[in-house]
Amino acid sequence: MKNGDSFQQQRRACIRIIGGGAVIVSAGLLTGCHFEAENDEQVHFKGEADGDLRKHLLKKAALAPSSHNLQPWLIDLRGSKDSMTLRADPERLLPVADPYARETLISLGCFLEVLSMAVQANGNQCEIILFPDGDEPQLMPIASVIAWIRIIPLSQPPLPDPLFSMVEQRRTNRRPYELQRAVSEDILRALRGVANTHGIHAAGCVEPSLVKKINHLAANAWRTEMSNNDAVLESLRLTRVGRKEIEAHRDGIAVSGFLPEMAAIFGLFPRDRVPEPDSALMLDMIATGEEQAQTAAGWIWLYSQGNSYAQQIAVGRAFVRLQLAAALYGIAMQPMSYLLSEAPQMQPHRKEFYAKVGFDPNQYHLQMLVRIGYAASVSAAPRRRLNDFIQE
Ligand SMILES: Cc1cc2nc3c(=O)[nH]c(=O)nc-3n(C[C@H](O)[C@H](O)[C@H](O)COP(=O)(O)O)c2cc1C
Repeated sequence: MKNGDSFQQQRRACIRIIGGGAVIVSAGLLTGCHFEAENDEQVHFKGEADGDLRKHLLKKAALAPSSHNLQPWLIDLRGSKDSMTLRADPERLLPVADPYARETLISLGCFLEVLSMAVQANGNQCEIILFPDGDEPQLMPIASVIAWIRIIPLSQPPLPDPLFSMVEQRRTNRRPYELQRAVSEDILRALRGVANTHGIHAAGCVEPSLVKKINHLAANAWRTEMSNNDAVLESLRLTRVGRKEIEAHRDGIAVSGFLPEMAAIFGLFPRDRVPEPDSALMLDMIATGEEQAQTAAGWIWLYSQGNSYAQQIAVGRAFVRLQLAAALYGIAMQPMSYLLSEAPQMQPHRKEFYAKVGFDPNQYHLQMLVRIGYAASVSAAPRRRLNDFIQE
């Protein structure tokens, strides 16, 4: 069970699994789990950065969020001690959920923003040159160098970014959010203000009647997502059950604890096939995602005018700032990216969303949609080791 869950909660879960055969681990598969690593030390880096400043900075940057926690960054440290090259790891893509690598670029944008903040906190300036080999539209961005990064010493150290202090506390919170607790317009305004950066726009709503409508449509869209076998399978394959698997991979959606591990042992937690539509696991996955959608106390969406690779990187930069600010205000946040899926069956839901919030898809590109609210904190998701993503 997740840290902090009460004995009663654990007992209830236990009864559920024993009684109905229902596997309550589903939240970890596609919507996020409540059975994460038992303490944050398990998931954060161990080992030294051997005195290389870049490695210290990269450890911070790797705490950035990424789609399905794939951590698609690959860093080349060969060359001068004040520079590095960022590429996307071609082994860490999501062909079904993210066929054009848009979410991969957003994840790399998150990484670059946290790296840049870390450099600044260190008293230096971070120069980032995107797509130095040229941003050819016909070329899949993952084949190119994403960025050249240079650390420039400053005679006058810059003021630290207040959001940087939240890098280790920031989390994606997939719990149900408190139904009785509204998010104020003031907080929404402040969050939107933070996310309106790098040329990206942020909008949102906390007005209860509109929130309710969006919650309802997000829950419907989730049911549609759950009928997309390819998407379900892709997520299942990235689920890591139990300490051994989490430790071996240190990525993906981590699910640990006695119950899910037992479920996996008894074959109730398949990752090589889609569970039957009426299986306990599938029903629970559907219910978990619906509950997440239905308990949102507000929604924020990021959008851009245009959809270039550089803009997708900028979305990531804006998004991680938004999430860090949410952490600062004690607001729980979870992206709900399935509504932005390219799958044809999702398009009616997307259109409904546009109509409800007055979004003009002919003028703007919707890039991120997140739910917000209040919830108990969650523990940190695993991260790969430094040596797993650097080349030196
Ligand atoms: C582009 C992008 C899309 C994401 N989409 C989802 C999503 O649809 N559902 C979800 O629960 N989390 C989503 N996340 C959050 C990641 O799953 C999360 O960052 C990752 O698991 C690491 O966990 P952490 O944010 O707590 O460090 C997304 C993150 C990014 C950067």
